Amino acid sequence: MEQGAIEVPKGLDKVIVDKTSIASTDNEGHLIYRGYRAVDLAEKCSFEKTAYLVTYGRMPDGSELKEFSDFLASNSEVDDNTEKIMQLMPRGTKVIDLIRSVVSLMPLRERSDDKVLLEIAAKIPRISSDGYRIINGMQVLKDLNATYAERFYYLLTGSDDKESARYFEKLLILYMEHEFNASTFALRVTASTLADPRASVTSALAAIKGPLHGGANAEVLNYMLRMKSADEAVKFVDDKLAKKEKIMGFGHRIYKKLDPRAQFVKAQLKELARIKNSEGLYEVSTALEKEMWDRKQIPANLDFYAAIYMYLLGIDESFYTPIFAASRSFGWAAHYLEQVSDNKLIRPDSKYVGPEGLSP
Ligand code: SDX
Repeated sequence: MEQGAIEVPKGLDKVIVDKTSIASTDNEGHLIYRGYRAVDLAEKCSFEKTAYLVTYGRMPDGSELKEFSDFLASNSEVDDNTEKIMQLMPRGTKVIDLIRSVVSLMPLRERSDDKVLLEIAAKIPRISSDGYRIINGMQVLKDLNATYAERFYYLLTGSDDKESARYFEKLLILYMEHEFNASTFALRVTASTLADPRASVTSALAAIKGPLHGGANAEVLNYMLRMKSADEAVKFVDDKLAKKEKIMGFGHRIYKKLDPRAQFVKAQLKELARIKNSEGLYEVSTALEKEMWDRKQIPANLDFYAAIYMYLLGIDESFYTPIFAASRSFGWAAHYLEQVSDNKLIRPDSKYVGPEGLSP
């Protein structure tokens, strides 16, 4: 170990490895994007306006927002070759694996890094929808001339219901960015080698799949749909804790008391559950959240309520991690640009604990 090296907790827990001006949590524990509370952006702004803010660091004026929205819309389709690549994917391929594979190969126009990153981000909804439909032997959907969220919601469900799309848009905004989370840090490590934007996003797409990170939301639905009452929820928690197994959708490296995003989605979910006549599912979810807090003081994270919310919006669980990735691809764009703007290769030291002095 180099002279002067410092040892830090495993997992870099509470270790500040760099500065960022993209996101943080404010002194009341709220997630902020470029100084604005994420929940305020979800309530009051469009996905496009928030994506511009996160990417470029300030709110767009009218013409900038129109130009940005038009750029996303005009770069949202994939070419025939990319469709052919998707046709080669074996049945049963997970959509997030297909997205990672396609992004790593699809042709992109040679232009500034921000535009390359935004072109990748713009295409993920189409790749998600076509990939899923091709893998499952279904016809791909035509395009829909609408906002980013309305179009994405249509590509996922075939529905052009604007009220559902607006609920979906609020969730998308909350998924967009979260400081140095695992997939973003994977992107920054790759970017720090001066690998290109596509390679860096591919690293992030690989990292987000894990059940400790972006793969949690789909796991939540698997267990939530098995529970028909609050009593069953309590028993589920008891059983999992007795076996020392982790319950997906709970806990967070930063939020130890509550995840403000989860509480926002929980409030929206209460409305949505009433509209969809699914109050029972909402009651079971709040009972499970209460049991986890009473037993372990572990809060629900965004993925817990997001999974139930997307289910009530009629979205197939195959799309849950892809939805997280599609929105987070704008946060990744911002982090790539920030990393390369003041770069130093990310290469930590390690403490060797293996054998020495051996001879072959
Ligand atoms: C996301 O980083 C981000 O910002 C991520 C994210 C984003 O926007 O990018 O917010 C999105 O990934 C949310 C997290 C989704 N993942 C899950 O829901 C998976 C389940 N959660 C856990 O695996 C866990 O809570 C983590 C990984 C999210 C955080 O874990 P830490 O900070 O590494 O803490 P830990 O695993 O060391 O747990 C501390 C204690 C342990 O108990 P002890 O061994 O000390 O007795 O809390 C327990 C853990 O066993 N614990 C849990 C638990 N999470 C932590 N026990 C049961 N169920 C859980 N979910």
